[in-house]
Amino acid sequence: MFRIILLRPILALLTWWAHRQNSHLYDQEHASVYGKKHAPDSLYETMAQKIIYALKRHIALNECIALDAGGGTGSFAERLLEDGARKVCLYDRSTEMLSIATSRLKVFGDRAVTWQANLEDRICLEDSSVNCILCVQVLHYIEDWDFIAAEFFRVLKDGGCVVVVTVHPAADTVFRGIGPYFRPEMRRAFLSSGGKLRPITYWHRPLEAMLAPFLSAGFMVADIEEPHLGAAQSRPWWNVAESLFQYFPPYVIFVFRKL
Ligand SMILES: C[S@@+](CC[C@H](N)C(=O)[O-])C[C@H]1O[C@@H](n2cnc3c(N)ncnc32)[C@H](O)[C@@H]1O
Repeated sequence: MFRIILLRPILALLTWWAHRQNSHLYDQEHASVYGKKHAPDSLYETMAQKIIYALKRHIALNECIALDAGGGTGSFAERLLEDGARKVCLYDRSTEMLSIATSRLKVFGDRAVTWQANLEDRICLEDSSVNCILCVQVLHYIEDWDFIAAEFFRVLKDGGCVVVVTVHPAADTVFRGIGPYFRPEMRRAFLSSGGKLRPITYWHRPLEAMLAPFLSAGFMVADIEEPHLGAAQSRPWWNVAESLFQYFPPYVIFVFRKL
């Protein structure tokens, strides 16, 4: 913990610098970073396995129709289809992400459907039409979750589950040491991905504020996981962000159920 306290001012300075110098980089390189195959021991792959495991604990994938909201380059959709999902519908607002997703999922024929849309708009699916929804590392880009949670509830069948993965509210408070935990607000930070620091802007909110929109929409909380990416992960010493994840969870995984 002492090391984290010492690192705070350095990380805050790096964040400020990364935003000033490189804020264009994240968008430009985002799709190609997400589109590539990740090493088996990478942070992305470790998280991906935990996310798929969390989903499978609650839903039998066989014969499942899944929705991947903000599905990016389709890496989760691909996993679901390989693991037996009947059909996966994926939407995302980014043209670059979608074009990678569409070519990646071509091999699955009409079991994969992709389209461009904003999560903040009505989902172009019938009521009660999907068995599960994945929304991985997307909601921290969005201020208002109420409408999105209500739309997820509408398109989900009874008994279905939503898996939401988003930035853990403790992460940036511990990581950057600035900004109160309780206040929802837009914050800036940087992510280490693809071997580079990439500046991002995201919405911080406390755990309660993450749960409230889903509870108001009618969901029950089936699971909450704070993935421990512990010391088992061998990280290069210069990768400060990933080394810190042995002390606190970078993400939180929620599983919500529609009864
Ligand atoms: C960090 S990436 C995660 C992609 C994918 N879920 C994954 O885990 O590989 C975030 C994705 O959210 C998408 N996104 C962000 N805001 C969005 C919005 N308002 N509507 C739709 N997609 C959005 C981005 O285009 C990007 O593909």
